Amino acid sequence: MPQSASRYPAVYAAWKADPQLFWDEVARDIEWSRPYDKVFDAYAGQYGRWFVGGETNTAWNCLDRHVRDGNGDRLALIHDSPVTNSQRKFTYAQLTDEVASLAAVLIDLGIAKGDRVVIYMPMVPEALMAMLACARIGAVHSVVFGGFAAAELATRLDDCRPVAILAASCGIEGTRIIEYKPLLDRAIELAAHKPGTVLMLQRPQAPASMIAGRDHDWAERVDDAKARGAKAACVPVAATDPLYILYTSGTTGQPKGVVRDTGGHMVALKWTMANHYGIKPGEVFWAASDVGWVVGHSYIVYAPLLAGATTLMFEGKPVGTPDAGVFWRIIAEHKVVALFTAPTAFRAIKKEDPTGSFIAKYDLANFRTLFLAGERADPETIKWAEAKLGIPVIDHWWQTETGWPICGNPMGLGMLPVKHGSPTVPMPGYDLQVLDEKGIAVAAGIAGTLAIKLPLPPGALPTLWGNDARFRKSYVEDFPGYYSTSDAGYIDADGYAYVMARTDDVINVAGHRLSTGQMEEVIAQHKDVAECAVIGIADDLKGQNAAGMVVLNNGVNRPDAEIEAEIIKLVRDVIGPVAAFKTVMIVKRLPKTRSGKILRATVRQIADGETWKMPATIDDPAVLGELTDALRAKGLAANAKAPTG
Ligand code: COA
Ligand code: AMP
Repeated sequence: MPQSASRYPAVYAAWKADPQLFWDEVARDIEWSRPYDKVFDAYAGQYGRWFVGGETNTAWNCLDRHVRDGNGDRLALIHDSPVTNSQRKFTYAQLTDEVASLAAVLIDLGIAKGDRVVIYMPMVPEALMAMLACARIGAVHSVVFGGFAAAELATRLDDCRPVAILAASCGIEGTRIIEYKPLLDRAIELAAHKPGTVLMLQRPQAPASMIAGRDHDWAERVDDAKARGAKAACVPVAATDPLYILYTSGTTGQPKGVVRDTGGHMVALKWTMANHYGIKPGEVFWAASDVGWVVGHSYIVYAPLLAGATTLMFEGKPVGTPDAGVFWRIIAEHKVVALFTAPTAFRAIKKEDPTGSFIAKYDLANFRTLFLAGERADPETIKWAEAKLGIPVIDHWWQTETGWPICGNPMGLGMLPVKHGSPTVPMPGYDLQVLDEKGIAVAAGIAGTLAIKLPLPPGALPTLWGNDARFRKSYVEDFPGYYSTSDAGYIDADGYAYVMARTDDVINVAGHRLSTGQMEEVIAQHKDVAECAVIGIADDLKGQNAAGMVVLNNGVNRPDAEIEAEIIKLVRDVIGPVAAFKTVMIVKRLPKTRSGKILRATVRQIADGETWKMPATIDDPAVLGELTDALRAKGLAANAKAPTG
């Protein structure tokens, strides 16, 4: 480890020496309505459970306790929406009232502790209120990102079987209005499980038509609750009860329902706000993500409020709303001390404003740290941000499953030296190892699968919703005693981790996690498709982009362009615009091994201009030449190399 004054080595060592003592001390920062019996029960759940026997409430810890402590006048939430040209601000007292009133409406609508509630909303304050209102009454929310299509929403409805959906009538994508209601109605039509209640936030940009008996007007119901003085109290729930389910991409079309429990989640998140992000109560923290993703759950909603900070919620894009200076305008105007975003957002800003001319127009005196995560932070982007902003730029690595950083640079403990290309070191809670194919830990500098020695820390997923078997198969069966991250990488001699690529069919497009396996399942539904393969190809702006190779059924005799356009539309209609699926190549055959395995990785290496070897088991080497031509015809594989060896 390079020399520094950071307390990190001592804190990590203290955790490692006695993990239960460490988390027991951290857990004192959370208010429990019933103390836990055990910090960790190794015999419960899939690999043990944290804070067993304890009871608490997340909304209480995020809101009411700050009001009780005399901080009701402190700003809890700032909503800045360049797409509607509006701003809204809520103090802790106001936000507590809003959430308690909305929670009373949920109770009136028959929603009770343990019920699931799907939230399908854009970046408006009511989305955050909806999550906290569920938490308040012990209902389990599942937020679905607005960029998913109706069929994706339907899959989630069938998996978590919600009693109600909380929705908004539309989202705003730059200058485009996206009507949510037709997508919602279609999803309910498609789903076998049909929730009987919809609470609809009508936005003036595109009010929704309502279905009598099922759909209720959000504002009317909340106004009525306020007029009656109806406010729901915080319901104590078990530390091990689920707070939410968040679906994320796996290797198939069936998304994984990541379960987040109540107690461990709060304990871990609150620790990270002070120790990783270095945020003090009252400071303004901005995670420029979306509540539909894990970053939004953890660092727009729960962690900043647990910490008594002010969270900034942004409805806009890094560029085009109205320009590449919007991040700097917001940081200056609201005195943001730390911004957390995806590297792709910075690449978009850099592309529009390479000299950083907008940065100079704003007073960024309060801005201390830029945090990047969600995809690999390429050193060029980090260097550009460091040079233009003159503040530390911190890459950190985590997953929907973990809910908080596996590796990072703990600003609150004292910053460690930055190494470009590395998200720095494991946080307390994570015993990170690099394993070879047999599950044996390898030496420093050797690449392998990044795996976490069990148990996972508080806040990480205890299981997948209703599917313990899939949890075991996906995460813990490959390497007994470890959680496999499905990321490949290495740890250097200083203990710094490097995260290089996924080991499965998951790709990362503009910081959005997508499944190529799922795209293949959708493309295979097209009537003319015999077989297909989808890969992620490196992209300067988005990190990766999906590209499909498709073989048609014999006898299909229509123009390729027509079929390609149909396949692109099919993926958009079934998965959603977020798949950003825009490249299809119709080819005569796919490259395969003699046993029939498609050589996706080799095609990706060719497309990305990496050095590659002709696979020894390839059935016919000529296919890769055909594929390279097909890629070039689409303007890809410009730097393709000849095979080595
Ligand atoms: N609702 C509806 N549609 C959405 C959507 C939403 N919430 N989010 C994205 N989409 C649509 C986009 O409008 C776009 O549609 P189009 O194909 O009709 O143009 C499509 O999905 C693909 O979106 P995206 O890949 O995000 O591309 P983009 O060109 O709109 O924006 C960036 C590019 C880099 C500016 C943007 O991706 C970005 O800000 N990314 C940061 C991601 C992030 O914060 N991730 C969270 C992890 S920290
Ligand atoms: P998600 O679950 O959507 O947060 O995506 C998690 C995946 O994104 C990880 O498994 C990695 O593949 C990738 N990822 C997230 N952060 C980083 C990072 N800092 N560096 C490299 N990859 C990252």
